Amino acid sequence: MNRNLVCRCELRRLDATSQDDLVDMTFVDLAQWTASAFENKARLCFLGKGIYLSVRLEGFTNYVLKAKVMTLVEKIDRLKRDKKAIILAHNYQRPEIQDIADYVGDSIGLSRRAMEEKEAKIIVFSAVDFMAESAAILNPDKKVLLPTLGARCPMAQMLTVEQIKRWKVLYPLAPVVLYVNTLASVKAYCDVCCTSANAVKVVNSVNAETVLFGPDHNLAEYVRRKTGKTIIPIPERGFCPTHMLFQPEDVHVLKLKYPDAIVMVHPECTVEMQDIADFIGSTSQMCRHAKKSNAETFIVATEEGIIHRLKKENPGKQFVSAYEDAVCPNMKLNTLERLYTSLKEEKYVITVPEPVAKKARKALEKMFELK
Ligand code: 13P
Ligand code: SF4
Repeated sequence: MNRNLVCRCELRRLDATSQDDLVDMTFVDLAQWTASAFENKARLCFLGKGIYLSVRLEGFTNYVLKAKVMTLVEKIDRLKRDKKAIILAHNYQRPEIQDIADYVGDSIGLSRRAMEEKEAKIIVFSAVDFMAESAAILNPDKKVLLPTLGARCPMAQMLTVEQIKRWKVLYPLAPVVLYVNTLASVKAYCDVCCTSANAVKVVNSVNAETVLFGPDHNLAEYVRRKTGKTIIPIPERGFCPTHMLFQPEDVHVLKLKYPDAIVMVHPECTVEMQDIADFIGSTSQMCRHAKKSNAETFIVATEEGIIHRLKKENPGKQFVSAYEDAVCPNMKLNTLERLYTSLKEEKYVITVPEPVAKKARKALEKMFELK
């Protein structure tokens, strides 16, 4: 007998025509409940293949519990309801996670949505560590959960506080603008944060011609070209391993098959990829661009998870990944099962020590102030 079986139980009196009660509980809870309710006189019998449960009670044989196995999605929905939780998912999450999320978006959209949330007590952040950390910094009164502790963005590990300090010695007057793909402890040492959606706007807003920018050197180069400012990438060659997989050669081959396709490229891709793009933007900016464009086919150079959302929102259009194996293994660590366990056991709680959170919050809020 599967003791972890979660059942929807219908308690009814056999001799009555209407339902007396409706209860949801785990099988273990059920055994405890019946035992205590009927002073250990209950006996549980398993009928069929885990679908039905019946209870024979000494002296109360007219009670039967009928149980239906809940799907994982139903269990997650129930936990969300019971615990007043919401699920925020990044555009790279697995399709089944995107489909049950309350909001799907890019890094800035997710942070904004987390900040605007008034009702929820728990935010399950189905993404990678730095995104959940930002949500925790911006929502100190809410419990922020990351379903998989190991879901880390390798780019966010590429810049340390010591490195920033060293660069500041070389460029003492240059403000530090950091991509949100950084750890909270590092954000605490910057003047302002940015995302791929607003990096150009943020760098234009700082009152300096020379800017220290990290950790992605491809985004730094994109910003340099767009702003004309002197952008010093810190570290010199920080990168996203997934976006480095896109190569112009693959797009040229796809263009032979889809000559009219629009090429959408994330600014974390190489400069060579940016050079052949029709549109460069964050993941959600790509979604908006695809929606309003009259084009029918799009070649997409960002993590493959976004294809699900693009197809869902644009049923009449065609989306082709510029490189199908461009998968972010960290984003994909989150699964429905892990999301369920995360909600059930309220793990892994993401917390940022207040002295660090205070400084990092300032850098994030400065970014949000720019309309
Ligand atoms: P977006 O903000 O465009 O969603 O990008 C986040 C990210 O990690 C890209 O790899
Ligand atoms: Fe980090 Fe790249 Fe994954 Fe985005 S796609 S989370 S930048 S490793």
